[in-house]
Amino acid sequence: MAKGRPYQGGTSLRNGQSCRGLSSTLYIDAKRERSWSRVGLRRGHYLVFPPVNVEPNTLFSRMLGKLRKHGLRRTLAYFLYYGVAYHLPYETRWAGIGKLSGLVRRILCRVLFRKTGGEFSVGKHVDFDFLGHLITLGERANIGNHAWIRGGGQVICGSDIMMGEFVLIYTQDHKIHGQEYDGYTVGDVVIGNNVWIGGRVTILKGVTIGNNAVVGAGSVVTRDVPANAIVAGNPARILRMRSDTDGPVVTSPESLV
Ligand SMILES: CC(C)(COP(=O)(O)OP(=O)(O)OC[C@H]1O[C@@H](n2cnc3c(N)ncnc32)[C@H](O)[C@@H]1OP(=O)(O)O)[C@@H](O)C(=O)NCCC(=O)NCCS
Repeated sequence: MAKGRPYQGGTSLRNGQSCRGLSSTLYIDAKRERSWSRVGLRRGHYLVFPPVNVEPNTLFSRMLGKLRKHGLRRTLAYFLYYGVAYHLPYETRWAGIGKLSGLVRRILCRVLFRKTGGEFSVGKHVDFDFLGHLITLGERANIGNHAWIRGGGQVICGSDIMMGEFVLIYTQDHKIHGQEYDGYTVGDVVIGNNVWIGGRVTILKGVTIGNNAVVGAGSVVTRDVPANAIVAGNPARILRMRSDTDGPVVTSPESLV
């Protein structure tokens, strides 16, 4: 078999392609395309790999895949967001520079998100993978600094939402039947209007947080939160209902940043 390109770790080669190893020429047995791959070292020695994705898995091929799925505009916005905007300063830092950073993130998230209000903010280091198309943000809604949004479900946020730092929103679980992590169960997360979510809150899949609710710092929200409730703890339980003397959660758009 002819010598090919250097060995790249087993998963990135097509069956039947050859490659150069550290000390020997390696090849993948083309006849075993759908079963375990047998990688032969010369002189009768073999390495055996479990079935692998035989498609090339380079950065370029991944970019191409995203381009096909999401279109040029969103793919460019994605690379600009994670390449630049994600790292820009906090919106509250360095006066004009912070404001400009917030503006850049807002412009890109308008492209990446499913739907947004006119005025909203996305903090520094907010990570939603390539799933922005599952996020809806209402007027003056805020995704706090360092928030992570993960999973294949939608995140639908109303208006006037205030969020502390390091909030985690998970819209899916691994299936945990038997001993296998076999696929996913997905559930949308809905956050109503005028909601305050404290720092380090974790919101799990399928949860709806009602209008005017408050979620205390560090809570893990596993069940729906009724409107006007103040909840806290792990799992989050109702501390009390909000009263008129508590006043509005969000007092002004400026308080969002
Ligand atoms: C939820 C919160 C608003 C409640 O404030 P509050 O109405 O003044 O409540 P209190 O301080 O009177 O506490 C009432 C009870 O709830 C408990 N509690 C309050 N916040 C809690 C929390 N985050 N987790 C667990 N228990 C909490 C208190 O220990 C107290 O329990 P006790 O009655 O057994 O002593 C507030 O505690 C909170 O978590 N704020 C979030 C702050 C934040 O994350 N800011 C980020 C910037 S946006």
